[in-house]
Amino acid sequence: MKTLTILKPDDWHLHLREGPVLKNIIPFTSEYFGRAIVMPNTKIPITSIDSAISYKKTIVEALPGSSKFEPLMTMYLTDEADKRELISGFKNNVFFAAKLYPANATTNSSYGVKKIENLYEIFELMQDSGMPLLIHGEVTDTEVDVFDREEVFIDRELSPIAKRFPKLKIVLEHITTSYAVDFVQENNIGATITPHHLHINRNAMFFGGLNSDFYCLPVAKREKHRLALRKAATSGKECFFLGTDSAPHLRKWKAFCGCAGIFNSPVALESYLTVFEEENALDNFEKFSSLNGPKFYNVPPNKERIKLVSKPNKIVDFIDVFEQENIVGQIKPLHAGETLKWQVDGIVN
Ligand code: DOR
Ligand code: ZN
Repeated sequence: MKTLTILKPDDWHLHLREGPVLKNIIPFTSEYFGRAIVMPNTKIPITSIDSAISYKKTIVEALPGSSKFEPLMTMYLTDEADKRELISGFKNNVFFAAKLYPANATTNSSYGVKKIENLYEIFELMQDSGMPLLIHGEVTDTEVDVFDREEVFIDRELSPIAKRFPKLKIVLEHITTSYAVDFVQENNIGATITPHHLHINRNAMFFGGLNSDFYCLPVAKREKHRLALRKAATSGKECFFLGTDSAPHLRKWKAFCGCAGIFNSPVALESYLTVFEEENALDNFEKFSSLNGPKFYNVPPNKERIKLVSKPNKIVDFIDVFEQENIVGQIKPLHAGETLKWQVDGIVN
């Protein structure tokens, strides 16, 4: 049996939601991750210091008793974003970063930014104060093919931002193309890579009929892009780090409206490890999961370690969501019904 002991990882891109979903899913992350950057796209987005403080309180209250997990909060940028609120929230350690959603790019992004240049003054202040800018990198122009939206965003929006603000700490989130892999390396920015984009290509969405289980945004692309992402993630390069983009939607809603998002937090580490093993890169796993992110964000790595073992790990078909004693829904995890080869054994001190 192979084992791997690494510093406790962090999840640099996570959706925790609210209410019963939050309470039911948070242990999957808090058990084995030290910190997570929490996305602000709640039903009413997190656009102020007060709402971030109150959301963080709800998250901390939902944690299992002895958890030391730290949620890192983000401010959702809008066309009306208040620069004083943003910078004061960052300087007072309420916000860890700001998140840019182009309007209507994804789940709960209708309050997002319509004209990105209008935020240039804010980017200048963020650059000066060292506040990271996290970007959902897709254009929403309906004339642009869904599969080209990341690449077009890089050319139209990201490239001018990176040129104009060379010291701004930018993370291109959940990258899906070889174009993004190249851009990140050439422009001194960071990128998160999800487990699902390392496992599936766009065919998955059409497997056995129209299959919303594999619908997320940005959508998975062609096989050549998946292969480029696997190479990037397993390379050990400092600009690539773990961000699951775990995005739970109750099955009834996913089936009904095909909401974008894949729930992977119950299997994230095992899922990534499968890829690192297949790519003969287990030696680089700790860099991707536990070292590159802290280095990019200038925070110390976690101190505890976790042990991972290679033994068969059957993934459940559904996770039940309870409200008090009642099941209010189910969420399908990534790899549902599959048997993965790795398992987390626990924390080692
Ligand atoms: O697939 C996604 N789901 N992509 C996102 O950008 C948002 C997320 C969600 O919140 O559901
Ligand atoms: Zn996300």
